[in-house]
Amino acid sequence: MNVYQIFQIIQGFLVNQWGIFVFLLGLFIGFIIYRIKAKFVFKAYSSIVEKTKIQDRENKELLVKLKELGNSLNKSELEEKLWHQEETEFIFKLQENISLEFDRKIVSRYIVDGVGKFFNAKKVALLLADNSDELRIEQTSGFDSEKVRELVLKKGESISGFVLARKEPIKVDDLKSEPYLLKKNKESYFTNEFISVPILSRHRVLGVINICGRNIDKTFSKKDVALASSVGRVCGIAFEGIFLYDRLEDSYLKMITALAQALDARDSYTKRHSENVTRYSSAIAKEMKLSLHQQEVLVRAALLHDLGKIGISDAVLLKPGKLTAEEFAQIKEHPLKGYEIVQSLSFLKESANLILHHHERFDGKGYPQGIKGIEIELGARILAVADSFDAMTTDRPYRPAMSVDQAVSELIKSKANQLDPEIVDCFIKVLKNNPAIV
Ligand SMILES: [Fe+2]
Repeated sequence: MNVYQIFQIIQGFLVNQWGIFVFLLGLFIGFIIYRIKAKFVFKAYSSIVEKTKIQDRENKELLVKLKELGNSLNKSELEEKLWHQEETEFIFKLQENISLEFDRKIVSRYIVDGVGKFFNAKKVALLLADNSDELRIEQTSGFDSEKVRELVLKKGESISGFVLARKEPIKVDDLKSEPYLLKKNKESYFTNEFISVPILSRHRVLGVINICGRNIDKTFSKKDVALASSVGRVCGIAFEGIFLYDRLEDSYLKMITALAQALDARDSYTKRHSENVTRYSSAIAKEMKLSLHQQEVLVRAALLHDLGKIGISDAVLLKPGKLTAEEFAQIKEHPLKGYEIVQSLSFLKESANLILHHHERFDGKGYPQGIKGIEIELGARILAVADSFDAMTTDRPYRPAMSVDQAVSELIKSKANQLDPEIVDCFIKVLKNNPAIV
């Protein structure tokens, strides 16, 4: 057999077995592809399985931790955590509501109501020591504050004075078993169980908060004392700002009053006019039982009611003879000028309206707006009566002062047109009861 024959045999074999060869080659290539893909698929599958395992492990650990936490927290601890959250919210809200308010009455009311509600207290009293070391009741809840309104306590006196001097809170569970405090106490509103905390500012003690008795069957705890002390400190910061603001207001008022007095002094005939009108107006307001706030607004208006005359020349203001129409027109501008001067000061805004209307008449024939009856503010109607009476009972260049009886007769006549009859009657009563007021 030669080489050619061998070649032919091989060629025949290849030709005859070609299908088998192609089949085997396909199998081989398929196997290679399968191996490569299987490697990737296996890798992805392993990753998912691993991640699931980790997640599962973490879940188990979390469950264990939660179980441990649940076991470690008993009911009282849960209550404590809840209480702590409520406490934080209470202090935060209190601070938020009182820090930007400068009206001490609004702030005090918010504090006693808030404290009473949070502590479930039967009574709350807030006492302030403003310019001195004397404590006075500023606001209360749960009892009649009028009965204790006049109470003035010196440092060290009674329970509140004791806390003021001590600058530290006290918690009393049974006042009857505290002979020292029991003997000292002059404040009838104290219950057997109470907390008393100082209102502390950065520099001094500004007051005291007394939280007396509870409406729930639970005594005050040490945590209650700690919270009440925090309330005292928050209130201290607020009241420090309020006292500063009050002093600033007071300084402004003194400055403007000095201006009004200087104005009165321009005319020897009216040099105590503002002072007299203030005294009469205040007496009428008390007789009519106006609120303290209304009295305050009225007193400020009375002090400054003729401030607008500052813009009138001496030639007109001090003219002894009869005024011309033009001169009288100038005089008639003084309520509006006075109003314009004071209305820009926030604490005099209400008084400004009384100043504007103190020359309005009850029958509507006054100035500057010609309003009548109860359209005119009550304070302005009171000012009108006080102003008229003082004008009549002081000397004028063109006539001597009238006697009180003559002036009263004129006031009675004015009831028909110029002045509010009810206020005139009230003032006559004041004069009868207190003749020394003139
Ligand atoms: Fe006037």
